[in-house]
Amino acid sequence: METKLSRVVAVNGSPRASEGMTEIVVRRFLAGAESAGAQTEVLYPAKMKIAPCLGCLYCWFRTPGVCRHKDDHPALMEKLQQADLVVFATPIYVDGMTGQMKTMFDRFVTYTPPFFEFEGHRSYHPRVGEKEFRALVISVCGFPEREHFDAVDLHFKRIFENMRAVSLGEMYFPAASIMATEPGVVEPNLQAVEAAGGEAVRDGAISVATLERANREYIDDPRVFGEKLNEIFHGLRRHHGSET
Ligand SMILES: Cc1cc2nc3c(=O)[nH]c(=O)nc-3n(C[C@H](O)[C@H](O)[C@H](O)COP(=O)(O)O)c2cc1C
Repeated sequence: METKLSRVVAVNGSPRASEGMTEIVVRRFLAGAESAGAQTEVLYPAKMKIAPCLGCLYCWFRTPGVCRHKDDHPALMEKLQQADLVVFATPIYVDGMTGQMKTMFDRFVTYTPPFFEFEGHRSYHPRVGEKEFRALVISVCGFPEREHFDAVDLHFKRIFENMRAVSLGEMYFPAASIMATEPGVVEPNLQAVEAAGGEAVRDGAISVATLERANREYIDDPRVFGEKLNEIFHGLRRHHGSET
C-alpha cells in the first residue's frame, strides 16, 4: 500500500490520559491511520515528567537548545520530530487546552532560537529544521455548543503558524460525555474521524467533506442535553451520599 505519512504520533493532553473521552476520538483516528499502513503511538503528558518552563532562558543563551530541567520533555520532543504527522488532542479546560498540554508547548521554547525575524506581516522566531511538520487538532468539551472551541481553535492556529506547521484540520466533539452515555449518537462522526486517519496517511491531507462529517452537529437541543446530564449529576451525588 502506498502511504504518504508512515509515522503518526498523538499527544493526548487529558489529565485522565487513556481513561477519558479524548482518547476515544484519538484511538479512532489512529485506527484509520493504522489500517492505511502507518505506525502509531500515543503520548500522555499527564503520565510523563514535564516540569513547567521557568522562563530563565538558559536554553537560549547559556546552553542553547538544552533546558535546565532534566525530565521527559526531550524524549517527547524527539518522538514528535520523528513523526510525519502529530495529532494534538486536548479536552477543553477553562475554555482552553489543559495545563499539561500548555506546559508541554511552553517547553518548545528550548528548541526555538531567540532571534526575531520579520516575515510577511509579523515577527517570528526562526524556522527550526527543514522537515515539513504536519499537525492536526482534536478536542472534546463538556458543554454542548461548538463555541466552547473558539479559543482553542485560534490558539492552535497561532501555535501552528509559529511552528510553520501544515495543519490538516480540526475535529471537535462537544457534549463529550455523550460518547459514554449514548455512543450511537456520535458514531457517524467517529467513523468520519477514522476515515480521516486513513486519508491523512494515504493522501497527506483530509478532505473537506470528511472534516465536515467529523464535525457534524449531533446535539439537537442543548437545553435538553443539559437537563439529561443534570439528572445524571444528581444521581451521582445521591450515589456518593452527598445529596439526598
Ligand atoms: C477543570 C475542568 C475544566 C473544564 N472546563 C471546561 C470548559 O471550559 N468548557 C467545557 O465545555 N468543558 C469543560 N470541562 C469539561 C471537559 O472538557 C470534559 O469533561 C472532557 O470530556 C474531558 O476530557 P477527557 O474526558 O478526555 O478527560 C472542564 C473539565 C474540567 C475537569
